[in-house]
Amino acid sequence: MPPLRHPLINSRYPHLLHGGDYNPDQWPLRPDILAEDIRLMKQAGCNTLSVGIFAWATLEPEEGRFEFEWLDRTMDDLAKAGLHAILATPSGARPHWMAQKYPEVLSVEPNRTRRLFGLRHNHCPTSPVYREKCAQINSLLAERYGKHPALLVWHVSNEYSSGYCHCPLCQEAFRDWLRRRHGTLEALNQAWWTTFWSHTYTDWSQIESPAPHGEHFLHALNLDWRRFATDQTVDFMKNEIAPLRAHSPEIPVTTNLMGFFYDLNPWKLAPELDVISWDSYPDWGAPQGDVAVGFRTAFAHDLNRSLKGGRPFMLMESTPSVVNWRDVAKLKRPGMHLLSSLQAVAHGADTVQYFQWRKSRGASEKFHGAVVDHVGHEHTRVFKDVAEVGGVLAKLDAVAGSGVPAEIALVFDWENRWALDDAQGPRKSKGYEDACHAHYHAFWKRGLPVDVLHMDGDFSSYRLVVAPMLYLVRPGVAERLEAFVEAGGTLVVTYWSGIVDANDLCFLGGFPGPLRRLLGIWAEEIDALHDGETNRVLPSAGNRLGLARHYEARELCDLIHAESAGVLATYGQDFYAGRPALTENRFGKGRAYYVAARLDANFHEDFTGALATELGLRSALPGTLPEGLSVQIRSDGTHDFLFLMNFLPHENTVDLGTETLEDLLGGGALRGPLTLPGFGCRVLRRLSTS
Ligand code: GAL
Ligand code: ZN
Repeated sequence: MPPLRHPLINSRYPHLLHGGDYNPDQWPLRPDILAEDIRLMKQAGCNTLSVGIFAWATLEPEEGRFEFEWLDRTMDDLAKAGLHAILATPSGARPHWMAQKYPEVLSVEPNRTRRLFGLRHNHCPTSPVYREKCAQINSLLAERYGKHPALLVWHVSNEYSSGYCHCPLCQEAFRDWLRRRHGTLEALNQAWWTTFWSHTYTDWSQIESPAPHGEHFLHALNLDWRRFATDQTVDFMKNEIAPLRAHSPEIPVTTNLMGFFYDLNPWKLAPELDVISWDSYPDWGAPQGDVAVGFRTAFAHDLNRSLKGGRPFMLMESTPSVVNWRDVAKLKRPGMHLLSSLQAVAHGADTVQYFQWRKSRGASEKFHGAVVDHVGHEHTRVFKDVAEVGGVLAKLDAVAGSGVPAEIALVFDWENRWALDDAQGPRKSKGYEDACHAHYHAFWKRGLPVDVLHMDGDFSSYRLVVAPMLYLVRPGVAERLEAFVEAGGTLVVTYWSGIVDANDLCFLGGFPGPLRRLLGIWAEEIDALHDGETNRVLPSAGNRLGLARHYEARELCDLIHAESAGVLATYGQDFYAGRPALTENRFGKGRAYYVAARLDANFHEDFTGALATELGLRSALPGTLPEGLSVQIRSDGTHDFLFLMNFLPHENTVDLGTETLEDLLGGGALRGPLTLPGFGCRVLRRLSTS
């Protein structure tokens, strides 16, 4: 279990933060609107606004001429009103003059075409000019505002995502990076298996990033390119952060991440940041239903909390109503705004921030949800929803800085994801996220808190570690998993694990490679099923976990041999009927399970239930939870805060049991059955059981 008491986002402000992206730079001609903004912020219960995110053209209208008066006014006005600022560095987009004078700041596409000026998040991360310009503007901002009473947090850039520039500068940087990683060209050729199709490199200059009209089937190249893109982004970010830390070491630094965004490995960015923040845009109201959207969103919140060892994170962006970039911009139903905001807090957020404070009048986001609509006043449904959240957060000061007592770690690893998806076979769509969701959903339904780790994470403080589809295994991982199980931990690994090493080279001598001894099995072959095809998995009579139902297998079925492991279930059909489908290996004081096939929700329910009982895992609330109701727990070690959240559009009743719980929002004490309205939520407090 990670620690339960953490530093506040900024120790000067012992409250949950509430606010959003604020763009006074869009309204220079409307001082009346700017004055009104401050009044409305107070009215909405907002306390912290994010300023300057895309303001470079306003800050530096021509090269070397800086205009800070508007930002001085904004910061002073916020401070005067008792409000705070999250101040951004502007590198998420740059002024026209810069791209015109220094085209190298614009990134180059995989087809080797340099982008024209436009959009955002598309700079070259290597360009010395861009790095210098960023360092300069960041220094000026930090010098001027680093000690400003309004400033709480530095917001570096916006949604870094542009690490994949294919310009000549980036190609050179990539080659240098490869020299550092592989040492010699011989070693690189060996690691990348370049004798295949006669692709042996004989000079470093022959190495090019993956291209649609060039090399893109050399999977180890693709993997190293992705690693490089993350590292180059981290390097770019460090260049941005240095002047901020130099001028204002006491102000925490964050950058807004994007949940499970594919292209950058957030575990590499996290150590450089003081606080994690992320932008969450779930598709509430989507046809798959809000329960499905709810548990997936929960998983992403848990990832963000786990990125810094359980330290509370910032929900940096969310929408107060619609998201305009989806196919269908559905309104949040009544209740959903409070529910989705509190869901973030339940999983460890100490802030609820929005994109955006006031709707822009023109350009592409003029129909995106905002606290203040084009009508300009507070008498809107959305404004009232936001004000309600403001009121609720103000009652939850005690939650700030508390942690989540997770006894379970679920491994979700970016390099594994990239390598797995890129491989040809055994199926085009591998379903890594789905595989993780299936395990996560079973925990969510039982109110069992979960941390999300990468494979290099520290497993030692958990009771149960689940590593679905651990296809790529980096050096040291198997040894650490062995140590974890040997010391009494329980490990679950699934089909298609232990297949390649960190260079994407297959393990020789039998899968699951370095995990074979720990799992006590040999995976000889894997069968891929067409969509709609199924097999059956039948629990063995008298199996120790008490599994009793028949389960359905889909998509991937490993054909394994139990070596030292015992068999808990077998396949029911096809030529491999009778072969093991679920095994258990005793290893030291612990056990390691192998789930050989992609199994249905009934399996996950029964298997998770059996493990939870056997290990005595503590769920947030004892007893069975009704469908669609999530209970999450935060704790500071003295008190537990229980968040009860109904993701169904109709009433749902949960049994609180005999214990008396304090209702932090409504006041009073509660026990026994409690009925929540559709999309209803409650926050309760009890003496800690963690
Ligand atoms: C985010 C971005 C914001 C805004 C928002 C709209 O990804 O950081 O600037 O574009 O999406 O949903
Ligand atoms: Zn570049």
